[in-house]
Amino acid sequence: MKHHLAALFALCSALSMAAETPAPPPLELGILTPKPGSAPRLNGPTIHGARPGNPFLYRIACQGLRPVQFSADGLPSSLQLDPGTGIITGTTPQTGTYRVTLHAKNASGEASRLFRIVAGETLALTPPMGWNHWYTHYDRITDKLMREAAEVMISSGMADVGYQYVNIDDCWMNAPANKDPLRVGPLRDAQGNMVPNKHFPDMRALTGFIHGKGLKAGLYTSPGRLTCGGFAGSYGHERQDAELYAGWGFDFLKYDWCSYDSIAENGDPKAPEVPHWGKGGAKLPVHKYPYQLMGGILKQQKRDIIFNLCQYGKGNVWEWGAEVGGHSWRTAGDLGFELNRITEVALKNAGYRAWSKPGSWNDPDYIQIGQIGNANGMGQPEPCPISPNEQYSYMSLWSLMAAPLIFSGDMGKLDEFTINILCNPEVIDINQDALGQCGCVVVLNEKTYLMVKDLEDGGKAVGLFNRCEVPAEMTVAWSVLGLTGPMQVRDVWRQKDLGSANSSYPAVVPRHGVVMLRLSKGDGGKGQ
Ligand code: GAL
Repeated sequence: MKHHLAALFALCSALSMAAETPAPPPLELGILTPKPGSAPRLNGPTIHGARPGNPFLYRIACQGLRPVQFSADGLPSSLQLDPGTGIITGTTPQTGTYRVTLHAKNASGEASRLFRIVAGETLALTPPMGWNHWYTHYDRITDKLMREAAEVMISSGMADVGYQYVNIDDCWMNAPANKDPLRVGPLRDAQGNMVPNKHFPDMRALTGFIHGKGLKAGLYTSPGRLTCGGFAGSYGHERQDAELYAGWGFDFLKYDWCSYDSIAENGDPKAPEVPHWGKGGAKLPVHKYPYQLMGGILKQQKRDIIFNLCQYGKGNVWEWGAEVGGHSWRTAGDLGFELNRITEVALKNAGYRAWSKPGSWNDPDYIQIGQIGNANGMGQPEPCPISPNEQYSYMSLWSLMAAPLIFSGDMGKLDEFTINILCNPEVIDINQDALGQCGCVVVLNEKTYLMVKDLEDGGKAVGLFNRCEVPAEMTVAWSVLGLTGPMQVRDVWRQKDLGSANSSYPAVVPRHGVVMLRLSKGDGGKGQ
């Protein structure tokens, strides 16, 4: 075995072009993200889209010792900032770009950051960030667990780096039959309104609780008669449901194809003009129809609602997801735990990079780390089997691809390592970069590749990924990235400047791991 590993290392090394051999990293990495300091550090997106005349809610993402005193220059007069909590509320002003400077001050120091509010029709100008209950609580989700998740989003520091959405997935409604009698009941009331099950006694109160923390609330339904879990779907009640959800105060809707399959096979009587219904023959207009319908209705609500298409990539959804009003779309089925699969899904997802832009995101599924259930298990969460190095690769890929960062592990059992992966603000800055570019893959050889992403400040982020079982020496040459001249190099996981390099940078990349760099001509792109 030893010889085998040595041979592999030699192979990986031979494939690289590094002149000097840096010291090999430990086989598995520990915590790399430095703990936040006590002085304020403003994080999160530097641009935020909202629709004129709708309710506005935004909690400023800021690390540092509390109490922090927040203030803002240039805030439109229809918005108010709570100086103690950093929560901005009010009504989105008329169409335009408002350049606001956010300030945060505490006993240890102060920080400022540019924040552009773009009042217009485009939401999700940066990839949505948040948490979804599915891979932890499955059909066990309750109002209480959702409230706890919102609390932990604040207490863990996740909200301080930009996590915002607290999203309910399937199983909040009634089902015709279920092992839990509290989830069985009428699917709709006498007026045709969808009825939440007994674990969700008051949806309005729940969103009110989440909003009170400056966070946003998400919900799930299906265009079919039933959801994948066998609960009430929205078929035939699309407008009524959208209005109900908006009235409850939801800010995000995941729309999961599920049982719409059987409607697609038989033809949707609601849409006789749509051609190509039929078994196995569902074609583009059929794939689009239910999403077009709901997308149009959501736009008519007096509320900003992110529309998350979940239909596993049918009909090349990335090509038309934005056109039907989607802000993100799953590009594949449910993601499992195997690194090979994660890499494969990521590389495929990156292949659709042309369709990734502000307001429109390719979604390769959730961040499944920490304590979490496997995609098909529906069991109690367990420690995820993805190794530490693999978790760094996973989060780096999602960040470089500008993928939505939706964590789906157990918020009640967050450990230090998981927080280190989820909450590195420099990694998140790359994900949230206002240019909205999805990284481009440069294959170096069978076992190593780069993912390169242009950044708004003119710099680039680059991940050096190693699929070998042993560390690999890799060199990133500026010529491959289309760069010339000296570049400032910063290791974003370690938040450490590595100095200036003229034409390339060599690194030893741990097995199944990554080294993620930010390259800039100027100040290292720290942006603070
Ligand atoms: C699947 C979906 C998962 C989850 C599940 C709920 O179709 O891809 O993310 O929502 O349904 O039943």
